[in-house]
Amino acid sequence: MTDDLTRWRREFPILADTTYMVSHSLGAMPRRASVRLAEYAETWATRGVRAWEEGWWEMPRTVGDLIGRIIGAAPGTVLMLPNQSTAQSAILSCFDWTGPRATIVTERLNFPSNLYLFHGLERLGARVITVPSDDGMIVPIDRLLTAIDATTRLVSVSHVLFRSSAVQDLAAIVARAHAVGALVLADLYQSAGTVPVDVAALGVDFATGGSVKWLCGGPGAGYLYVHPDRRRTLAPRLTGWAAHRAPFAFDDGPIDYADDVFRFANGSPAIPALYAAMSGYEIVGEIGVAAIRARSLRQTARLIARADAAGLPIVSPRADDARGGTVVLDVPDGAAVTQMLARQAILVDYRPGAGIRAAPHFYSLDEEIDRTVDAIVEALAPRSAATRAGAWSAGG
Ligand SMILES: Cc1ncc(COP(=O)(O)O)c(C=O)c1O
Repeated sequence: MTDDLTRWRREFPILADTTYMVSHSLGAMPRRASVRLAEYAETWATRGVRAWEEGWWEMPRTVGDLIGRIIGAAPGTVLMLPNQSTAQSAILSCFDWTGPRATIVTERLNFPSNLYLFHGLERLGARVITVPSDDGMIVPIDRLLTAIDATTRLVSVSHVLFRSSAVQDLAAIVARAHAVGALVLADLYQSAGTVPVDVAALGVDFATGGSVKWLCGGPGAGYLYVHPDRRRTLAPRLTGWAAHRAPFAFDDGPIDYADDVFRFANGSPAIPALYAAMSGYEIVGEIGVAAIRARSLRQTARLIARADAAGLPIVSPRADDARGGTVVLDVPDGAAVTQMLARQAILVDYRPGAGIRAAPHFYSLDEEIDRTVDAIVEALAPRSAATRAGAWSAGG
């Protein structure tokens, strides 16, 4: 089979006894991550403070280059930060939110952290336009494009929406934003590692994401991409000594920003998280997102077909170019069904307003998809029988 990536399964210990359909939430840990964490401990133990100049200080950039390979960013344009929210904050802190160009355009279905940050900017004078969705699953692209005009400073959108896994048309958004002089900040968290992204080809100005999900890098390692042409003119207010041109000079007074991507740094980097995260990036980079996407499209199509056959309602997009790596099934009592599956070591998750989210990743087997759908059908069986007997209200 051309998409046979199952040889990677032995690299992920949890797969031995768990049907892992939840990589949109927390990707499985690569075996090599524990080797890397041991390396971190050994370096700390034996090299002590010398470790900073033997690689630790540069890690936000060197590890960022591993992400760059996955998202089409040139070396030296990606900086690791502790999470995606911090990465968005660093960019938002670069702008003046007063005057005629003080609007930020986003979508109501953006990740809550980002929306909280945008609304916080209202205190500084920003006007926030949250483009609505009619069905809670997709945002009509024309509606989004129409909201972008000459008052727009920044368009901040998700490439793939976390709740529905709908893919948004970043190319169209960048084209419209740039045509009116606005910049684009894209949240790649739900795309990078499962849906191909090429930030350079797309021309996005900034991109953010993290490692917890499709990149199998674990918590504590977010990333920020900044287009090289944007870098030198920006002065983030969210800053710190790691962003200084000469941090070890410990200068007082206003910051003299670094010219390179460290300009967007703040305090000391989260070194253990970077050690933990590298293995996932290496594996995803080695396989290549094109191969991961091809397998994901085939397996999510299988999941959709099995769910259709069982009469389970699918609320995420169905078309190949419109769906990300996750399928969302709006079954009754999704939270309880998710727990019933967990008791059988089948891991999915549930999001209010959407339903059960299930996602194969490159290490998933076709039979695991079938097992997941079968288990959902089985969990719903008593309920369906009760419904048939007209006793639905008694069953809740
Ligand atoms: C699209 C998206 N953005 C952001 C986040 C969260 O980012 P962080 O916790 O790294 O700030 C998530 C998931 O947790 C997400 O799905």
